[in-house]
Amino acid sequence: MNRRNWLKISALLGVSTYLGTSYAAQTGCWSPAFSDLPQEWLRLGSNENPYGCSPKVMQAMQAALKECNRYPNFDLLLQKLSDYHQIAKEQICITAGSSEALALAAIAFARNKRENIITAKPTFNVFPDIAERLGTKRIDVPLTAEKVIDLHAMAAAVNKRTAAVYVCNPNNPTGSKLETETLHNFVRTISQKTTVVVDEVYHDFIEAPSLIAQTANNPRLVVIRSFSKVYGLAGMRIGYAVAHPDTIKKMTALIARPGICISQAGVAGAIAALEDRDFVRMSVEKNRESQEILYAYLRQAGIRYIPSYANLVYFSLEGFPKTYLEDMKARKVIVREIDDYGQRWCRVSMGSPEEMKRFVEILKSMRS
Ligand SMILES: Cc1ncc(COP(=O)(O)O)c(C=O)c1O
Repeated sequence: MNRRNWLKISALLGVSTYLGTSYAAQTGCWSPAFSDLPQEWLRLGSNENPYGCSPKVMQAMQAALKECNRYPNFDLLLQKLSDYHQIAKEQICITAGSSEALALAAIAFARNKRENIITAKPTFNVFPDIAERLGTKRIDVPLTAEKVIDLHAMAAAVNKRTAAVYVCNPNNPTGSKLETETLHNFVRTISQKTTVVVDEVYHDFIEAPSLIAQTANNPRLVVIRSFSKVYGLAGMRIGYAVAHPDTIKKMTALIARPGICISQAGVAGAIAALEDRDFVRMSVEKNRESQEILYAYLRQAGIRYIPSYANLVYFSLEGFPKTYLEDMKARKVIVREIDDYGQRWCRVSMGSPEEMKRFVEILKSMRS
């Protein structure tokens, strides 16, 4: 079977299978699975929460394990999310991580080979990548000089064949964010022409109105959320899409087993996570403290960085050796290097303040 046929069949069978078993194997792409590394490593490559999850969440998940022989009660989580966001349950599609929600959106709205999708570059790659692998043309729009998503240029790139536009806010890997009014105006205008997918996976790190409030009246808006970041549940694989009920229906139709694609412990953990706002506040505050530690060094060393609104920082690797990534690994540090139109940048996830102090010392030693 050739790859194209394989993709088609995978889409029909459901993206859980598609992502779960074959993504890294089929593509040879980078996998974020570093959970088996010894504790002394600095795992700053996947934007995870360095504090684990809330102790209340851990307790809820442990209790749920006793029911591991039973299928999970999805409805409880749907209800909780519906209360939390003040939206109808029919507006939510729970998925195995938000990556699955992004894949569902691509398969549902961006699989016509005569069409295109518009995306910023660099940005989080799952949506554009899957659309592209389904045969849709991908149009990359560079960021502004300040490394912010260029909504003007993206709007200008939309044409009659645009199946969807993907906007990640705050953006991964740059951490930059869009002004609320600018983004909301963009969504209002562009969704009159095509579907807009807004990735709000890092929204908990900013104080701004979410686009979720606009979804009930706009069938061409899909908002993506995750439990992997501020809630510290990356290993549990829970995410969701929020959209108009008609739009959610189209996405849910592509899931192999809607209603049971998250584990019993995952459902219990997500419910408890939504309740523990103190843990969220602590994570956001600590994230700022860690950023300040890194910023202070980068400023003093004259290294260009982008002020971040997520649990990561993007800084220029100008002046660092070409072997930066290997040198970091040799020092037991996992970070990402981004080729940003020929310029080398590092995306480092925020660890605890202690971890960031260690990271700064390692950076210093590499420059001396
Ligand atoms: C912007 C963005 N969206 C989605 C994801 C996917 O996260 P998950 O599948 O763990 O929910 C990530 C992960 O890093 C991300 O950075």
